[in-house]
Amino acid sequence: MSEISLNDQIIESLKDQKEIFGDELFVTLDLNTREEKIVYEKETLNLLPKKNEEKYVPNLFQEDFQKAKSLNELNKLIAGCQKCSLGATRTNFVFGTGNPNAEVLLIGEAPGAEEDKQGEPFVGRAGKLLNDILIAIKFQREEVYIANILKCRPPNNRNPLPEEMTTCMPYLIKQIELIKPKVILCLGLVAAKGLLNLNTSLTKMRGNVYEFEGIKTMVTYHPAALLRNPNWKKGCWEDVQKFRKLYDELAG
Ligand code: URA
Repeated sequence: MSEISLNDQIIESLKDQKEIFGDELFVTLDLNTREEKIVYEKETLNLLPKKNEEKYVPNLFQEDFQKAKSLNELNKLIAGCQKCSLGATRTNFVFGTGNPNAEVLLIGEAPGAEEDKQGEPFVGRAGKLLNDILIAIKFQREEVYIANILKCRPPNNRNPLPEEMTTCMPYLIKQIELIKPKVILCLGLVAAKGLLNLNTSLTKMRGNVYEFEGIKTMVTYHPAALLRNPNWKKGCWEDVQKFRKLYDELAG
């Protein structure tokens, strides 16, 4: 078994806390020895726009991709994107995958190493768990659509920066406009905050039905968080059952 460094353990534990409690951070630490590391990790985890910080402002001059009539066309228009620094470090632009007419859209955070390599979202360990979750609520991976807030992998899987999210969001919004799903499921806090622009914790969001551009939207844990903390699987199971019920009501 590979040894996990103290640094990595701190990052994982802070990520778990952030996933649940949002921007409130609860730490037990020995200030004499750990202060520097904690401060450093807090910086890496500072991923989301704070209240009144820069929000996405639509470009008054329409960009070409806004005119795309299909997902394929959109993909061709944006796959070479170099609007932020992630363009230089990615292997593949990870557009999204699934049924272009899907009634169900799942939104994750950003590609990881495996996704960057293969050019497809959720193909790593978290993706396998996501497939199992889908099967458990009787959806096939091929019948839904899966996309991320960011299309390019942040180096070392660090959390997306606010400016990266702001830059990339118009692509996801255009995807949603083309797919026209009946329901959306946000996987994790980054996806939920990115899409719904809410400044609250995952705990408070879970179980609620929100709307994004009139589309019913729910929130649950990110599969990678479930891999780190299997205790959350029960809560996720409750969330996705509610999500399935919502879909059944809307799909008739
Ligand atoms: N995590 C995500 O949020 N998205 C992926 O595509 C893979 C892992």
